[in-house]
Order: sequence, then structure tokens, then C-alpha cells
Amino acid sequence: MSRGKLSAIAAAVLGTGIALGLVGSALLIESPARADTTGILDEASFKAMDGRQIYAHICQGCHMADGGGAVGAGHYPALAKDPTLASRQYMALTLLMGRRNMPAFGAKHAIGFGGPPVILSEVQIAAVINYVRTNFGNHYTDSITAAEVGKLDK
Ligand code: HEC
Repeated sequence: MSRGKLSAIAAAVLGTGIALGLVGSALLIESPARADTTGILDEASFKAMDGRQIYAHICQGCHMADGGGAVGAGHYPALAKDPTLASRQYMALTLLMGRRNMPAFGAKHAIGFGGPPVILSEVQIAAVINYVRTNFGNHYTDSITAAEVGKLDK
């Protein structure tokens, strides 16, 4: 076999490899277990997100757009009409420190899942908590402040 032919085959194989790699990473981005928005948003837009946007970019990949949760490759509890959210501290601790398969988003506990960790500030954690606790059929009006989130972060 000529050298030219060999390298053409090598290029074809490589090409397929790259194509497969791309499909692989596209799947990873879509998979709930890898919900990670840092690749999509620049830092300034990330910091400027309000509670609704944080939910849409980060939480909904696992908990679904309507907060209905999902059961499939994993179990993602519904946040819609969720009685456990009656405790804003419970929700804050869940976000700060994670809970079993729920990733931590607090600076002290967040770890990346095959990529950089997604870290939310105390202001962002408070914003997404207040958003979820007053949407999706939840009517908890005692909002949480960033300062309270900060105190819970151990
Ligand atoms: C990678 C998937 C994933 C992402 C992203 C995620 N969660 Fe979760 N979440 C889970 C899983 C899994 C649980 C169940 C943990 C357990 O086993 O108790 C959970 C549990 C929770 C709970 C506790 C619910 C209950 O009834 O006990 C709250 C509240 C919550 N998540 C809010 C959020 C918010 C807000 C975000 C976005 C900032 C978010 N989650 C992002 C997977 C995720």
C-alpha cells in the first residue's frame, strides 16, 4: 500500500474519531448529570443572571423546565409543589453542599464533574431559591437573603 493511501486511511479514521468525539460531547452537554453552563455563557452574563435564568441554565437540565423532575438515568426530584421547600434553610444547604447526586454549587463544596465546577455566589443562590420557592406551584413568601445563605455555608 502506498504511503499516500495509508495516510488517507489514517485521516479518515481520525476524522471519524473527531466526529464521534463531537457527538460524544454534545451528548454530555445534554445529559442531566453533566448540566454545566460555563461553556455556554461568558462570565459577565453568568454573574448577571437572575433567579429565573439561573434555574433555566443550571437547574432545569436535571429538574426539568416545569420543575417536574425526571426519572430515567437517575432520579431528579420534582421541585414543583415540593413540601420540603417549606424550609428555605434546607434548600440553601442543598444548594451549598449538594445532596447525594445533587451537585453542590457553593464555593466551598462545588466539585466539577469532568469539567470546571459551577459555582454560584451567595446572591445567586438566594435568587434561585426565592425563584423556585415562589414558582412551580410553590407559594413560600419568606424569602432568603444572600447574608443568610452566607451564614449557612459551613
Ligand atoms: C446534575 C443534576 C442536578 C442539577 C444540575 C441540579 N440538581 Fe437539584 N437535585 C438533583 C438530585 C439528583 C437531587 C436529589 C438528591 C437526593 O438524593 O436527595 C436533587 C435535589 C434537589 C433539591 C431537594 C429537593 C427535595 O425535595 O428534597 C432541591 C431543592 C434542588 N435539588 C434544587 C436545585 C436547584 C435550585 C438547582 C439549580 C441551581 C439544582 N437543584 C440543580 C440533581 C440536580
